[in-house]
Amino acid sequence: MSFPRRSNTCGELRPENSGEKVVLNGWISTVRDMGGLIFIDLRDRYGITQLVIHPELQPELAARSKELKQEFVIWAKGTARMRENPNQRIPTGLIEILIDEFGILNTAELPPFEISDDIETNEELRLKYRYLDLRRPILQKNFIVRNNVYQVVHSYFADQNFLEIETPVLMKSTPEGARDYLVPSRIHKGKFYALPQSPQLYKQILMMSGFDRYMQIVKCFRDEDLRSDRQPEFTQIDVEMSFVDREDLQTVIEGFFARLWKEQLGVQIQTPFLRMSYHDAMENYGSDKPDLRFEMKIKTISEIADKTEFKVFSDTAEAGGTIALINAKGCGNYSRKQLDELTEFAKKYGAKGLSWIKFVDGQVNSPIAKFLSEENIAYLRSTAEVEEGDLLLIAADAWTRCYTILGALRLEIARRTGIFEKVKNTYSFHWVVDFPMFEYDAEENRYIAMHHPFTSPMDEDLHLLDSAPDKARAKAYDIILNGAEVGGGSIRIHSNDTQQKIFKLLGMSEEETELKFGFLLDALKFGAPPHGGIALGLDRITMMLTGTDNIRDVIAFPKTTSGLSLMDGCPSLVDDKQLNELHINIVKD
Ligand code: AMO
Ligand code: AMP
Repeated sequence: MSFPRRSNTCGELRPENSGEKVVLNGWISTVRDMGGLIFIDLRDRYGITQLVIHPELQPELAARSKELKQEFVIWAKGTARMRENPNQRIPTGLIEILIDEFGILNTAELPPFEISDDIETNEELRLKYRYLDLRRPILQKNFIVRNNVYQVVHSYFADQNFLEIETPVLMKSTPEGARDYLVPSRIHKGKFYALPQSPQLYKQILMMSGFDRYMQIVKCFRDEDLRSDRQPEFTQIDVEMSFVDREDLQTVIEGFFARLWKEQLGVQIQTPFLRMSYHDAMENYGSDKPDLRFEMKIKTISEIADKTEFKVFSDTAEAGGTIALINAKGCGNYSRKQLDELTEFAKKYGAKGLSWIKFVDGQVNSPIAKFLSEENIAYLRSTAEVEEGDLLLIAADAWTRCYTILGALRLEIARRTGIFEKVKNTYSFHWVVDFPMFEYDAEENRYIAMHHPFTSPMDEDLHLLDSAPDKARAKAYDIILNGAEVGGGSIRIHSNDTQQKIFKLLGMSEEETELKFGFLLDALKFGAPPHGGIALGLDRITMMLTGTDNIRDVIAFPKTTSGLSLMDGCPSLVDDKQLNELHINIVKD
């Protein structure tokens, strides 16, 4: 098929092009027959340009234009001229093309939803017709931003002497954390590859091979519960460096974010970023990824237990728990219904109950008022800096749960009182550091690594591995942006002995260790340099840059929260021949 190639894109023409002969190629966004004039909006990924036909002067062209429908693909030839009614909202809005010829390159059925930014179609329909969804300018912009992220990553890390090295997609299954996606081997009956949850061990081994500065934009796969910021396959900016400690690595990563924010948003971000310990993050904000764009700090009031008759408080204190609160400023007028909602909300985080105190009309109003002495109230007022109209929300529970409940309530109150709306154009980066090495998994009845089993303990806590492993802290760090974890990493163990000790603490037998990680332990015997790294969530970073809270808006062909690809219908059944070759029998339930 021969057709006139475009001289310009649909986003390109400006007043200075007025008078030029041009050819455009694109999709028809709308056709409007206004009687005196026919207007066609032509769209491509660069923008939209208005085409015009004069029925009086061009009767034949006008008659042919009746065939044109939404989403037809056409070429159009004509002359650019200034518009009588400019559209100031689009960059091409000052000009239009008076066309003298056009041709249809392809027809299109009526799309199941309108191809425009402000549609209210359900997401399932959009995902089924993803190719149409992706024609919408708002989504196209997201992928332009995503592409810019790739460019900045490559240039920034190349400038700093990093090498991009590809690691395998078919690897050994060594699950820790999420479930693996498995790939059966045809040749080796009953054996499986796994898709990487991250290239963690390969990048460490590259350090042992002397590559010293590695980076890769890499797909990772995790079979875990999905959410609005989590996909089963996602992309990491994976980084590893030799001969470094935490600060060196953090400085490189801060430089990367500063460059990306400058180039993409024109925003200067302050470096170095604040560093906050896990302990402080929990006690002040009730989260290991606190949103620091607003205050509403948690206050610990455990000492009140000795001074009140309230049994919930004294029992909690006796059991070694914590009592703490947040001050929901200005929420003293909350109704019983709203307070019940907050209690239900807290229960989702494991709360057994929630105590509240309203300070309104000069009164103290609370279901636990009868247990609170004047002295108690005075203490609460000063600790929580109470003003008239405030609402205190108090939780009493075990340390982690108490702060987690209040951390969740802090975000919920921010949502309800419009705080998020106020801070939405600010960027707050910081590091959370000094995580515990382990957390206890009551279900499995063993310690699990809080970051991963290859993370180095803090030098000063090494001795605790024998006496009190739950007190040992790790050389791990997470990078947080506006309350989202956009990356996490650590300094690694580079001694064979320490690595063996950690595997043992995680409840692994020598045989199991050898079977799963023998290759790593061997490699550690042959001169492993001190090293550490990090992985940044590229999808989440792109979400932040584009301002979406849905990860599917920045992934071209995403899965639903139940792991389906609605466009091509995967996962799907395969035929028996394929299964037989793989030695797989499907168990019928
Ligand atoms: P981690 O598991 O913290 O670390 O992952 C690093 C970053 O990847 C992003 N991320 C995800 N994004 C979308 N969907 C998911 N399912 C998902 N899971 C993780 C997050 C997270 O901060 N190997 C280590 C890194 C290291 O130690 O160097 C690792 O993978 O933004
Ligand atoms: P109860 O003893 O269950 O009747 O609770 C008395 C009051 O204490 C109610 O207002 C509960 O919401 C509150 N409460 C119960 N358990 C807790 C808790 N763990 N932390 C804070 N308040 C609680």
